[in-house]
Amino acid sequence: MLITWLNIDYTVGSSLTKSSQKTILHNISGCIELKTINGLIGASGSGKTNLLKCLNGFQQKGLSSRSTIVYNKNIVDFKSCFISQFQSNCLHQLLTVNQSLIYSSKLKNSCHSQQIDHQNNVDLLIEQFLLNDIKNSIVGTCSGGELKRLSIAIELTAHSKPYLLCIDEPTTGLDSNAAQLVMNCLYNLTLNHNMSILTSIHQPNTDIFDMFDSIHVLSKGFVIFTGKPQELKDFMSESNITCDTNESPIEVLLKVSANDNNNDSRIKHMIDKTSELNTHRFMAETNNIYYLIARRIRIQYIIQWKTLLAETVFHIMFATIVMFAINDDNWLKSLTTIIATYIIH
Ligand SMILES: Nc1ncnc2c1ncn2[C@@H]1O[C@H](COP(=O)(O)OP(=O)(O)O)[C@@H](O)[C@H]1O
Ligand SMILES: [Mg+2]
Repeated sequence: MLITWLNIDYTVGSSLTKSSQKTILHNISGCIELKTINGLIGASGSGKTNLLKCLNGFQQKGLSSRSTIVYNKNIVDFKSCFISQFQSNCLHQLLTVNQSLIYSSKLKNSCHSQQIDHQNNVDLLIEQFLLNDIKNSIVGTCSGGELKRLSIAIELTAHSKPYLLCIDEPTTGLDSNAAQLVMNCLYNLTLNHNMSILTSIHQPNTDIFDMFDSIHVLSKGFVIFTGKPQELKDFMSESNITCDTNESPIEVLLKVSANDNNNDSRIKHMIDKTSELNTHRFMAETNNIYYLIARRIRIQYIIQWKTLLAETVFHIMFATIVMFAINDDNWLKSLTTIIATYIIH
């Protein structure tokens, strides 16, 4: 397991006026395994972008107190990356593909202590993202699919790669060939790097759908299915949603969920069943409070040991000054003062 999330509820609007509040995500649970490619599927407005943002720590303010996100206990420097749907619109139009990647590599690695061969770093990405034919072309002349691949490659120019790459709608607006190319590049990333991918997509074709190791289907802010793509058809038939042999189950499900006026009992059944299954499936990962505390302390000490050491020295000095100020011969009382000062701090 790389990341697990449990009971994510996300609300927007002012907490002062209940009427202006809107809950966008309801009780969402899920998990991503290491080195896998995962699909977040749902009609437009189902909550995909907001879930990706919540998982990347963008929208902490609107999360409910029970929302929990846990990372793999063996990964200390967990790093995730969110690539917005509109990121490819923000590329510099007058640079070439190669120049865009080189500048990005220089900027993203400017704080890196090691000497980095930027051209070599970029050449590897150019190869992985199939940009070789257009590496000297001006960005402004690139096609939609090329821009999508370039914008993902730019995010990966950092020397320390993210463990989790979240990409919002990388195939939207592309024809099926261009979409397949983008997905192939993403799939290869999971094979060649220690990386998992979570990508939102609103209507995958069968080839893309079958590429996913696992899928999370959303409908109006609720999760209606979590599991392997091959398991979807049986899960749907348990809720009386049937499809012919020539129909794609995900297309049928998206059609039913889009027509749902909040009272289709079949969708309600899928929501309840998925919620029950997910709570059992993912609770074990997140309910071990001792594990969470130990992990937090361990990570805090590894990352912030200088700050923590300085704080401890400061506390001891402060407590000693307090002890002398009180100037009491009673050592027990002085010791209590030191401990009390430390705890209060
Ligand atoms: N700041 C906001 N205020 C009110 N409603 C919002 C806000 N952000 C998103 N929404 C609503 O939340 C729902 C889910 O949005 P989004 O996550 O963007 O869906 P998707 O990415 O699946 O298309 C939509 O109905 C959208 O209108
Ligand atoms: Mg979206």
